[in-house]
Amino acid sequence: MRVIGIETTCDETAAAIVATSEDGRGTILADEVLSQIAEHAAYGGVVPEIAARAHVEVVDRLVARALAKAGLELADLDGIAAAAGPGLIGGVIVGLTAAKALALVSGKPLLAVNHLEGHALTARLTDGVQFPYLLLLVSGGHTQLLAVRGVGDYVRLGGTIDDAIGEAFDKVAKLLGLPYPGGPQVELAAKAGDPERFALPRPMLGRPQADFSLSGLKTAVRLEAERIAPLSEQDIADLCASFQNAVVDVVVDRTRVALRAFQEIAPRPSALVVAGGVAANGALRRGLQRLATESGLRLVAPPLELCGDNGAMIAWAGIERLRLGLTDGLDAPARARWPLGTPFAEANVAASESVAAQSVVDEAAP
Ligand code: KG4
Ligand code: ZN
Repeated sequence: MRVIGIETTCDETAAAIVATSEDGRGTILADEVLSQIAEHAAYGGVVPEIAARAHVEVVDRLVARALAKAGLELADLDGIAAAAGPGLIGGVIVGLTAAKALALVSGKPLLAVNHLEGHALTARLTDGVQFPYLLLLVSGGHTQLLAVRGVGDYVRLGGTIDDAIGEAFDKVAKLLGLPYPGGPQVELAAKAGDPERFALPRPMLGRPQADFSLSGLKTAVRLEAERIAPLSEQDIADLCASFQNAVVDVVVDRTRVALRAFQEIAPRPSALVVAGGVAANGALRRGLQRLATESGLRLVAPPLELCGDNGAMIAWAGIERLRLGLTDGLDAPARARWPLGTPFAEANVAASESVAAQSVVDEAAP
């Protein structure tokens, strides 16, 4: 099976082709990504109109380049996948419309993939991870803990009530005068910093639900920075290190809580998987590795180029869906908002009802 995946939900235009072998494992035949970071850098964040226009300008070229790299023609493909949301709607429309046009001219099925599902299933492409597993998705737009029980079967164990983690990194970088995107800059500066110098809050630590709140932490960094201004290079390094340390503490605590909740709605996870751009952060990976070891779980983190937004994850999710016959019509909508999966409370009620029903059956048995 060979599927092309198109990704245009944020500031990366990407097209990739993934093929499956006899044993069902995936191979990336082409993986083209064009980042628009330079176009948005002057604004300190992604400007939706600039993003949409930039996607229009390059998407057809990227598709052609991916086909050429893979040595394939459109007719050799089995499906055309695109991220149909959630994301910046102008960009989503560009990628999805390109995919619809390709599907129409080639007569191949369309796969309108949820971008989050792409992140969620990547570990199966890179590491062959078996269902169910716990996914921590941490990017500039998303912060979620998901129980991945099967293709199309996800339970939201927790998420952020305000900023995404990557967004918090970007905002902290901005207020400290570091360039965009801020995550890698904060991590770099933190290497020379003292993580204990500033006593920053750990929002939500110890709460029974696996939710996050980042905006108070970001404000605490701002107040400390204002208190000691003007900032020396060492001050910036110490603020970055203290902030990163607080984020890691919070993420590890929230993930531990999610692991507990996981047991109520699914069998034991086969792995703890981390995905999204922030998964590139070394301190975070080390914190999660400690948690995985303590929990007797394997930590799986896709290679850096597949952590951020890319086309391969969309192509792979397309393959997973195509295998199950989950194709879409040409009327598939582009969606700015598209939550993935069921909230925990709902899934938990369903799980306890099925346990109760089973015990009635057991009791009735002779
Ligand atoms: O997944 P991604 O490429 O795009 C989406 O947001 O969907 O994630 C980008 C985010 C940005 O906020 C960026 O600052 C953050 O990931 N990031 C990092 C690191 N590398 C990227 N955050 C912390 N440490 C890093 N090393
Ligand atoms: Zn993403």
